[in-house]
Amino acid sequence: MARRPWMNRALSPGRRAELLLKAMTLDEKIALLHGVQPMPVKGYVGYVPGNARLGIPALRLADGRAGVGNGAHNATLLPAPLAVASSWNPNLLHAYGQVLGQEEWAKGTNVFLGPTVDVVRVPEWGRSFETYGEDPYLNGRMAAAEIRGVQSAGPIADANMYLTMQQETNRFQANSVVDERTLEEIYLPPFRAAVQAAHVGTLMCAYVKTNGIYSCQNRQLLHTMLRRQLGFHGWVMSDWGATHSTAPSARAGLDQEMPGSRYYGAALKRAVQNGAVTQAELDAQVRRILRIMFRQGLFDRKPRGSWTAKADSPADASFARRAAEAGMVLLKNKGGALPLPRQGAIAVIGEDAGGKTVAEGGGSSYVVPPYVISPLAGIRKRAGASRKVIYDDGANLAAAAHSARAARVAIVFAGAPESEGADRPNLQLPGNQDALIAAVAAANPNTIVVLNTGGPVLMPWLSRARAVLEAWYPGQESGNAIAAVLFGDADPGGKLTLTFPAAAKAVPTAGRQQWPGINGNSVYSEKLETGYRWYEAQHQHPLFPFGFGLSYTTFKLSHFRLHQLPGQGQVEARVEVTNTGMRAGSEVVQAYCRQPAANGEPGPQLCGFAEVQLRPGQARALRLPIEQRGFMVYDTARHAWRMPRGRYEVAVGTSSENLPMHAAVEIP
Ligand code: NOJ
Repeated sequence: MARRPWMNRALSPGRRAELLLKAMTLDEKIALLHGVQPMPVKGYVGYVPGNARLGIPALRLADGRAGVGNGAHNATLLPAPLAVASSWNPNLLHAYGQVLGQEEWAKGTNVFLGPTVDVVRVPEWGRSFETYGEDPYLNGRMAAAEIRGVQSAGPIADANMYLTMQQETNRFQANSVVDERTLEEIYLPPFRAAVQAAHVGTLMCAYVKTNGIYSCQNRQLLHTMLRRQLGFHGWVMSDWGATHSTAPSARAGLDQEMPGSRYYGAALKRAVQNGAVTQAELDAQVRRILRIMFRQGLFDRKPRGSWTAKADSPADASFARRAAEAGMVLLKNKGGALPLPRQGAIAVIGEDAGGKTVAEGGGSSYVVPPYVISPLAGIRKRAGASRKVIYDDGANLAAAAHSARAARVAIVFAGAPESEGADRPNLQLPGNQDALIAAVAAANPNTIVVLNTGGPVLMPWLSRARAVLEAWYPGQESGNAIAAVLFGDADPGGKLTLTFPAAAKAVPTAGRQQWPGINGNSVYSEKLETGYRWYEAQHQHPLFPFGFGLSYTTFKLSHFRLHQLPGQGQVEARVEVTNTGMRAGSEVVQAYCRQPAANGEPGPQLCGFAEVQLRPGQARALRLPIEQRGFMVYDTARHAWRMPRGRYEVAVGTSSENLPMHAAVEIP
């Protein structure tokens, strides 16, 4: 201890980092600021060697949005983040983070590359499954909950991808052209929550440019917004290959290059020696990393995990199943088509039900699943041996129609794969799936559609389907979770966290200049009108609005009032929810703030929500804290938030289009 005073646990992380920093040579400091390639260890996707002289542990970085990535075996494939976020239940996200964190820790990972917290701007975005949805406040709540869960389990979390990462097309070069107010009000908030509400240890700067400057050397983003404004004390690492310079990056606020040392190895050493980067700047980078490592206990706990360890468990599998159920969204249920009738043959149709089910998204978040229960297997198991289940892969429409006719109910499964690296070309279900659903629905009026998608799809056949269940990418327990919901063992607990448009062009980013961009520029000309904000402004009804989702039971909201708490703009909504139906189920009560016209804000914006589970007949009085920023605007002239005086409305209901109750708050 005398030789290594920074090992004294009684000292603060900041003090310990300071003591260690003093003992480090220039080379030792540089070594902490980049990954090494090839990696000397098996597994992971990034590695920073430890330092035996000083007792600095190695950093092992691994992906993990829905489970341990990077080719790991024996790790649980959980449902996609978008699926879990559709539960609107931050407690579930916290538990999700804990499971992810524990499995990564078991694998020896001490830096978990997730969650992805970016707002979905483009409905075709190839990574929408990896994040939470289209609303900044919702994404912030989910991000904070998941990060707390991850960091409570061992690893340092890494909020991805900072900032304006909203498309995959041309992602290494794309330039997001976006005004300051939109950045602050729409795209920054999830990161603010990650920093301020969850104290995330690291952030990953993105591939794209914002207003002409690469994210990882963008001083406005890294220094002004992230450090000065949000007060971020952790470190910024680059996305893999997203570092483009040495001194400009270091001076802008990038701390660590990943995965190699092209700019932050010998080149950084030279830059320090010739003064292009000052010693103080270099020390600040090192200090930020060390402080988080101390805070997270990486110096004090011997890493016990290993890449070949068995990380999955029956408990995690059952969590995967519950989380998948909680996120499924029942979009249509005409005449109570679901839960399924107790008797009669069931036709299960579509490749997505059988061998080719879409259980997860692709890219760096891909998890090697220990197994995947297909929907067909799940339904067969739940239906039992005595009940007839007919399977047809749907390749031949006439044959599929024939199978559908032979059953009391036909369930068509349709999937839309998504992967990092490419956006979906359009919002249609790929292949012949639309035609298949139409053919089956024409053959059997009792047709139910189950979707495995990572974002919205168009539904030209909607009027002919009796029921539609959005199951997202449900993970390894897919078939069990889907069967539980179809048969009514579980209530479909989810609500949409993104809008489903009615037509291909009826989306906020329909212009080519907006997405995928022209001459490399993606212009955020819809400004604050992202997601449901745009539909409201355009007086357009989408196919299914943000916040929407049915249940097998019914709910009533009553006794709504606003309660002012001490402090400007401190408000709580109080509302009673009653389960008026015959089954247990969950409802999500949503509050939307509408600002005075002079503020120049879009219409109602989500500013509070609470998910409740109620037994039949049960009632509960809820208190929803209203997000203070529901009464604030970002003032570009002053580069600061302010709360203009005026009359603000808070509306409460069960989707962005169903807000039957409202009350006003006067901000003096
Ligand atoms: C690129 C992805 O954008 C990022 O999210 C991921 O963590 C890294 N690759 C490492 O795999």
